[in-house]
Amino acid sequence: MIDDIRAAREAALERIAAAATLDDIAALDTQLLGKRGDLAQLKTRLGSLGSVDERKAAGQQLNEATAAVASALAGTRDELGAAEGERRIAAERLDLTEHVARPRRGRPHLVTQAQERLEDVFVGLGFQIAEGPEVETDWHNFEALNMGEGHPARSDFDTLFVDHAGAEPGRTVLRTHTSPVQIRAMLAGAPPIYIVAPGRVFRRDTPDATHMPVFHQIEGLVVDRGITLAHLAGTIEAFTKAFFGSGFSSRLRPSYFPFTEPSAEFDIRTPSGDWLELGGSGMVHPNVLRAGGIDPEQWSGFAFGFGIDRMAMERHAVGDMREMFTGDIRFAEQF
Ligand code: DAH
Repeated sequence: MIDDIRAAREAALERIAAAATLDDIAALDTQLLGKRGDLAQLKTRLGSLGSVDERKAAGQQLNEATAAVASALAGTRDELGAAEGERRIAAERLDLTEHVARPRRGRPHLVTQAQERLEDVFVGLGFQIAEGPEVETDWHNFEALNMGEGHPARSDFDTLFVDHAGAEPGRTVLRTHTSPVQIRAMLAGAPPIYIVAPGRVFRRDTPDATHMPVFHQIEGLVVDRGITLAHLAGTIEAFTKAFFGSGFSSRLRPSYFPFTEPSAEFDIRTPSGDWLELGGSGMVHPNVLRAGGIDPEQWSGFAFGFGIDRMAMERHAVGDMREMFTGDIRFAEQF
């Protein structure tokens, strides 16, 4: 009897050791410890043993065997449970590496590159960078720049108007040029003023190879004591050489702008002798200084403004301005 118990115990422990899954353990639990299991069968044989001592010894062996089997089942169940849990977590883990994969590096837009170079050159000449809003008041965009209501020069600017709650219609515009930043700079602080203001401007133009309804300008404004046209010419010349190279030179050509008096277009001469028109400039009109809260008897100044997009096109031989604004990364990557 004792030998049978030992054999049953060994066999049970072997089967438990061979179990591979939690299902195996569950099956073994019923088979080994259930009513029809080997140990239970042996228990029914206890009564047939001769002496009390024999019965007692066998009963104790049987209890020990049952306890050993139960504890082996529990131990293996724990082990397999932990392993299976790990396996399940591993299987269910989401692989996000695809989604956080190294982002492709972009490239500054051609216009951004040009703007940054312009800023560098003007900062090198002692200017500070100023900014103004893209949505402007009619007053800043026109009125304060000596273009009162009905001024014929207003029609040169194909203006986009903005409707918004509580505003008088036609009083809010998308700025048509960066010149309103002159007014904002003058109102923001007393002279001396040496600023350039690059930024986006808007006109009701149909896109073509040389026009976009959204484009970029850079404005310059100097207000100080004793500023003359010579300072303007010298600054334009210094800028031309610093930005384009020493082989380039510049000239001023008489022109008209409402906000400057006298006014001039400025052109640059390429090393091969061609003249390119770059922008407008002039001595700040006394009415403009007054609108900016500055006494024209004490201070004088010059201003200039030119487009950035066409310069960028020129520099990189881009044939069609629209190419620059398709948002196609392959375009930007070429420069
Ligand atoms: N604001 C003018 C335009 O968009 C350009 C300009 C001309 C700016 C003369 C100036 C200036 O500051 O003095 O056509």
